Amino acid sequence: MKILAIETSCDETAVAILEDGRKILANLVASQEELHRRYGGIVPELASRKHMEVILPLAQEALKKANVTLKEIDAISVTNGPGLIGSLVIGVSFAKSISFAQGIPLVAVDHINAHFLAVFLEEKTPDFPFVALVVSGGHTALFLVKDYLEYFLLGQTRDDACGEAFDKVAKLLGLGYPGGRIISRLAEQGNPKLIPLPRPMLDKNNFDFSFSGLKTAVANYVNDLKRKGLPIPIHDLCAAFEEAVVEVLVTKALSALSATGCQNLVVAGGVAANKRLRAALQKLAQERDFRVFIPRPEFCTDNAAMIGVCGYHKFLRGEFADLELDVYARSQFKRLS
Ligand SMILES: Nc1ncnc2c1ncn2[C@@H]1O[C@H](COP(=O)(O)OP(=O)(O)OP(=O)(O)O)[C@@H](O)[C@H]1O
Ligand SMILES: [Mg+2]
Repeated sequence: MKILAIETSCDETAVAILEDGRKILANLVASQEELHRRYGGIVPELASRKHMEVILPLAQEALKKANVTLKEIDAISVTNGPGLIGSLVIGVSFAKSISFAQGIPLVAVDHINAHFLAVFLEEKTPDFPFVALVVSGGHTALFLVKDYLEYFLLGQTRDDACGEAFDKVAKLLGLGYPGGRIISRLAEQGNPKLIPLPRPMLDKNNFDFSFSGLKTAVANYVNDLKRKGLPIPIHDLCAAFEEAVVEVLVTKALSALSATGCQNLVVAGGVAANKRLRAALQKLAQERDFRVFIPRPEFCTDNAAMIGVCGYHKFLRGEFADLELDVYARSQFKRLS
């Protein structure tokens, strides 16, 4: 069973071809990082236009790389939300066109569902149920995942997403865009213990997060030094910020494991590529009685292979979309009742 997967929810145009929901025949990502860098963030209008320019040649390249023709494709899987509306419509319209012209079934995928299913592209896969911590540019959330397509929100951020906090802190430190990778690299040479920063929401007995206060704490610290004419210890500050984020994520994830009785933790989304977070969780998993599953970094950030995994399971369940398929900016996650 071959699936053509398309992802255009944000600033990556991505196309993948997957066999039997696991074997990657092609996985191409055209990042728009360069395009948006000079603006210090994504400009939605530019993102849509770039998707439109890139999607067709990228899909052609993917088919060529996989050595597959459209006639051999059994389903088209496409992200229809959450994300930037103008970006989503490019991928969805493109997917609909091929579906209509070639008579290939269409499957619609939720980008966040796909993020935590990316782990099924790896050799080592978790059993259900598991707890999924999704940490990305737009989301920070904990889910109880009972099956591929059956998941329940335990808690989420009340303000900024964790990746967004990385990006905003990088911006206020004048480090460039996107911030996660840059902060992480600088943090490697810093001491995380020298600058005290808050651990938001750790005192709260729930699974919600909040990162805007942490960002403000960094801004206040920087402004105070600037006022005094003192240099900013950039490496130590990046390390302290990263450590504060990691501590909050790890603590909340562990309490979600104990509250649900799950032994398996899956971490997904762009911030799951973070080395300090990965190392902290691997260490704790060895010390305590749980197993952690984190996809390789290129499957943590946006890609179409994960859209193929999710689409495959929808295909197996006969959950097809029609040509009236719409897009959505935000997901309405089901809560555990
Ligand atoms: N090594 C890293 N450390 C910390 N953050 C990182 C790292 N690599 C990437 N990120 C962050 O991950 C985010 C991008 O992740 P992703 O591509 O999953 O987000 P998105 O698709 O924009 O948002 P969403 O998935 O919520 O729609 C950015 O905010 C980026 O700064
Ligand atoms: Mg994403």
